[in-house]
Amino acid sequence: MEDDGGMPTPPAPAERAALADTALAVALEAGALVGDRPTDLGVAATKSSRTDIVTVMDQRAQELIRARLEEARPGDGFLGEEEGGTSPSATGITWVVDPIDGTVNYLYDIPAYAVSVAAVVGDPTTPGAWQPVVGVVVGPALGEVFRATLDGGAWRRRGAGPWTRLGHSGCTDLGLALVGTGFHYTVPTRLWQARVVADVLAEIRDIRRIGSAALDLCHVADGCLDAYFERGLNPWDLAAGWLVVSEAGGLVGGPVGPGEGPERAAPPQRDLTWASGPGIAAAFTDLLARALTAHPGP
Ligand code: IPD
Ligand code: CA
Repeated sequence: MEDDGGMPTPPAPAERAALADTALAVALEAGALVGDRPTDLGVAATKSSRTDIVTVMDQRAQELIRARLEEARPGDGFLGEEEGGTSPSATGITWVVDPIDGTVNYLYDIPAYAVSVAAVVGDPTTPGAWQPVVGVVVGPALGEVFRATLDGGAWRRRGAGPWTRLGHSGCTDLGLALVGTGFHYTVPTRLWQARVVADVLAEIRDIRRIGSAALDLCHVADGCLDAYFERGLNPWDLAAGWLVVSEAGGLVGGPVGPGEGPERAAPPQRDLTWASGPGIAAAFTDLLARALTAHPGP
């Protein structure tokens, strides 16, 4: 079934709640697996460049998540980052999974890495043709868990503490905004990103490169970042975090077209993903539009 805009209709609230329970259980189990990091961890394979790595734990975590989801939800589709991670959906729901987002941090034993699990409707490989209905991001070494359900709010749990409902930072002055970003694994894109960052840096408080897009988005939701932008993301990097931000009252978008205001942005996609609270969204999208016009991308 589709709504008026051609977007598949999200499942009813009771099914969304059940999907959220499944996502949380599976992401926590994968988080426990990944958090038990082998001391002799090495690089198992490389992808788009020799710095774009896969470890054996990325592969094991994806296998675990996929097996658990197939058992719990036969017929759902699957789109995972690692090899062999794609199957079509017979139910309208597809699981979009990054078994370890922040794999370079993981390799170096820097705690900013996460398991990202989202249930989406639509085709996650076509920008604008899908939307997340459930998102869970588990940072095992940080002791943080983020979860969001469409129209059910965004929540964070730290350690054994209670779940707290998330709102964005409330920032209203772009000049005082702390902005996250990331850099692609391929040289032409990262050289372009460096030029764009230089323009952005001149008009904000500072930049953070945390190393996990899923966590960057969750940090816009919990107010640890005021905004975030990046080129080069894949659906598995952004699916869960997108919903966490929007359920926290923040805005998430993609390429910024002509006109004014954040509503002119396309949905988040590889060319551009940005997120912020509403108080700086207009100024932030203007800044991105100017920087991107000044530096046509590769
Ligand atoms: C990467 C991280 C990083 C971002 C890259 C992503 P991976 O995901 O999210 O922060 O800058 O664009 O590819 O490779 O660690 O799963
Ligand atoms: Ca990954």
